[in-house]
Amino acid sequence: MGLTRIPGLLFGGDYNPEQWPEEVWQEDVRLMAEAGVNLVTVAVFSWSRLEPAPGVYDFGWLDRVLDLLHAHGIAVDLATATATPPPWLVRTHPEVQPVDAGGTRLEFGSRQGYCPSSPVFRAATVRLARAMAERYRAHPALAMWHISNEYADHTAECYCAESARDFRRWLQARHRSLDGLNAAWGTSCWGQHYTDWTQVEPPRKAPGPVNPAQLLDWRRFSSDALLACFEAERAVLKEVTPDVPVTTNFMSVLRDLDYWSWAAAEDVVTDDAYPDPADPRAEVKAALSYDLMRSLKRQPWLLLESAPSAVSWRAVNVPKDPGVMRLHSLQALAHGSDGVMFFQWRQARYGPEKFHSAMLPHGGTGTRQWRETLALGADVRRLAEVAGTTTAAEVALLLDWDSWWGLEAPESMPSDRLRLHDLLLSWYAPLHSRGVAVDLAPPGRDLSGYRLVIAPNLYLCTAGHAAALAAFPGQLLVGPFSGVVDAADQVHDGGAPGPLRELLGVRVEEWRPLPDGVTQEVLTTTGALLTARTWTEWLDTCGDTEVLARYRGGPLHGRPAVTRRGAATYLSCLPEDPSPLLDDLLAAAGVTGVTGPGLPADVEACRRGPYLFLLNHGTDPATVPLPAGTGFTDLLTGRPLPGGPVTVGPRDAVVLKPRPTTP
Ligand code: GLA
Repeated sequence: MGLTRIPGLLFGGDYNPEQWPEEVWQEDVRLMAEAGVNLVTVAVFSWSRLEPAPGVYDFGWLDRVLDLLHAHGIAVDLATATATPPPWLVRTHPEVQPVDAGGTRLEFGSRQGYCPSSPVFRAATVRLARAMAERYRAHPALAMWHISNEYADHTAECYCAESARDFRRWLQARHRSLDGLNAAWGTSCWGQHYTDWTQVEPPRKAPGPVNPAQLLDWRRFSSDALLACFEAERAVLKEVTPDVPVTTNFMSVLRDLDYWSWAAAEDVVTDDAYPDPADPRAEVKAALSYDLMRSLKRQPWLLLESAPSAVSWRAVNVPKDPGVMRLHSLQALAHGSDGVMFFQWRQARYGPEKFHSAMLPHGGTGTRQWRETLALGADVRRLAEVAGTTTAAEVALLLDWDSWWGLEAPESMPSDRLRLHDLLLSWYAPLHSRGVAVDLAPPGRDLSGYRLVIAPNLYLCTAGHAAALAAFPGQLLVGPFSGVVDAADQVHDGGAPGPLRELLGVRVEEWRPLPDGVTQEVLTTTGALLTARTWTEWLDTCGDTEVLARYRGGPLHGRPAVTRRGAATYLSCLPEDPSPLLDDLLAAAGVTGVTGPGLPADVEACRRGPYLFLLNHGTDPATVPLPAGTGFTDLLTGRPLPGGPVTVGPRDAVVLKPRPTTP
């Protein structure tokens, strides 16, 4: 079965009918049907309209919307409407509004302002979720539940007194005793020893750097506090409508929430992705986030929101050139999405998002935007058979939120230039350009299905992580500044890479971060010259560890830079271009790109089930040297193609389905 009971791929967007007179709804559903829309997300910000006073509901308008949509064959991803608490709740209970790290309680007048730990807020959301579930449990348009909206957007954490109480409860469960907390937080440093739980507070704005262990627990807690909000609503929905899938929309590669634990709590992973058309690396970053979404539950996911053209929340909101909306949408499908959805259906006339693009723009149906919306709907229908198919990746990049949070603690690291997203991209980008399928994986997972595993950074590394990596039989690469601290952010005895020392056969004596603009040469034993930036290390090898590359010049001259013990490679620096190392690892692992060598620079190649997506992000035609033999049909055009090279037009794509060979 697909993500929902709707056959084929999903196509649609956020629909905010409460912003429009009812006559407009008629035109909306007519045009949706014309565009092939089969799913819309409704009621995301409707709490104040659905519950205008405590316990008093006005469902009439939403009933009419759902009936109308259903009558036109359009299903609904129905929000529980709890994303923005209504004014009456905020004014009668000001404590539901969040407080920032500086102690300021944030005002009403925007959206998604709530304290995740507020029992009043949670109870009110659960009451509304129950009312929604009971009202619409049997509505034939209901295809999926959408809880809240983009958790951690606007408010990722709240520093109020209620949150402090909740934080203490969370800490008591984790550390058991105050002694345990003092030990884990290393409070002997800087005179922070606590003698009573009431003295423990969130890491509010302080005169200097806050305790990084406290901050790490705070980030864990803040992710869990929001997850508890999600789970409270989910429990009600599952009780009333056990068969309706439940989701909440993720925000791509987001630091604030541990999406491994979040994904486990939902039925369907959905994502909101807004690659910046002005960013030359937009497609690579998007591909990374899509592969993360596919990996979270190892099943198809859904692009629930994307921009048809410009967004409205960047300093400069560059629109998408003709054809780019289509190409970016096909890219999400190539990476495992079972549909293409947008924010939003009809462009707003008022509010902060009135200049955000929409499927149906201010100018109406006589516009390029609308023509592209119609054409994309037709393309999505042509690709219906892709729904539900999966991707087999032989390479995994490790991503661990604890480690990410620890690595990016402010004001206490050897360099604040190590940013996990950049480190992931530094490996993801060259894999992507080679057409190699990549999964993301948490470090403790069974990795035996992969041939190559890359940990760009594992700053926080437990014995469990190390054991999982040691048990992995394939090629492994561990990046610099890994194995540094334990789960409490305390440095491993004997130095890095801590529990990975035996596996990697190295010991780091000294971190040597490089100032901005300074480079360090690294020469491999095969003669390749790499240029490192940002980070180097003084490394010792032990026993049978082989040196694959050495630093050249400077204080590290002649010292090991890249090492190997068995199938485990350690990289102590950050090469600008790790290609020579990567190519050796791929060869050793026996991994090739899905089209083999020679993929043109601007072309992205992804295999999904039997389908081969070739996406040309460039502005010139590009030819992909596919082997002769199997013939294909391009699902987008119905065109039969013989085996051999395939030319893809500028900003165009083909979706190739192998044709059965005649005996
Ligand atoms: C996010 C939100 C939407 C909207 C869009 C605009 O995805 O969920 O409500 O604000 O951003 O890009």
